[in-house]
Amino acid sequence: MPEVLLDIVDLSVNYGPVTALRGVSLQVAQGEAVFLAGPNGAGKTTLLRAISGLERVAGGSVRFAGATLHGRPSWDIAASGIAHVPQGRRCFGPLTVDENLRLGGYTRGSGVAEAIDAAYDLFPALKAKRRQRAEELSGGQQQMVAIARALVANPRLILLDEPSLGLAPILVEDVRVALHRILHEFSTSILLVEQNARLALSTGGRGYVLRSGRVVLEGPSTELEGRMKEAYLGG
Ligand SMILES: Nc1ncnc2c1ncn2[C@@H]1O[C@H](COP(=O)(O)OP(=O)(O)OP(=O)(O)O)[C@@H](O)[C@H]1O
Ligand SMILES: [Mg+2]
Repeated sequence: MPEVLLDIVDLSVNYGPVTALRGVSLQVAQGEAVFLAGPNGAGKTTLLRAISGLERVAGGSVRFAGATLHGRPSWDIAASGIAHVPQGRRCFGPLTVDENLRLGGYTRGSGVAEAIDAAYDLFPALKAKRRQRAEELSGGQQQMVAIARALVANPRLILLDEPSLGLAPILVEDVRVALHRILHEFSTSILLVEQNARLALSTGGRGYVLRSGRVVLEGPSTELEGRMKEAYLGG
């Protein structure tokens, strides 16, 4: 059994009187790709935001590489080796692609140029556009910029919130290939929020299905395939 990198136990998060997560436990091992699925409003984004220190944890614990994360500020959590690509592919529109990637290297002391080269190697389409403003790129290309920027920080774990949302099928395939390379060439573990069941299952790792803030299903992707529809529909 590989080392547990991210260990979430009995996590609860509230938005005022609304309970968004109740008693969620989830693990990501070193070198593993884990996906998180579930219907709209299930709490997937909330879980990633709680890991990153962007939402206050009401109960339970989040540990990363043996250290406690919950209660720490988001910049400190990022510096400890977790990169977060939020839902809606946010890059800095007025900045060039190159400038976006350099921002990703802000927290690392050295090796930024090499890390940027590796990111361009992962997404060759971006290299040709490196001096263009990010806002001039297509939605799919902006998603790639957001992922590339996260990787330049050299994270041990990358949190990806619905990277395939709104992408044409051919670009979803690009994302699938990129995930595979992130896992195997960058040695970065992945926690992927994904509603596209085919993409989620293609990671080949384990998965969790959330519904109304609870884990309703978990297991290896091979076992989840037939049971996911049921879990979504609440059957
Ligand atoms: N800032 C907020 N204030 C109050 N309630 C919120 C806030 N953000 C999310 N919620 C609520 O928390 C619940 C979980 O939302 P969350 O965004 O985590 O779901 P999700 O699984 O990511 O959904 P989607 O698939 O639509 O992105 C929902 O009921 C949502 O309405
Ligand atoms: Mg979401």
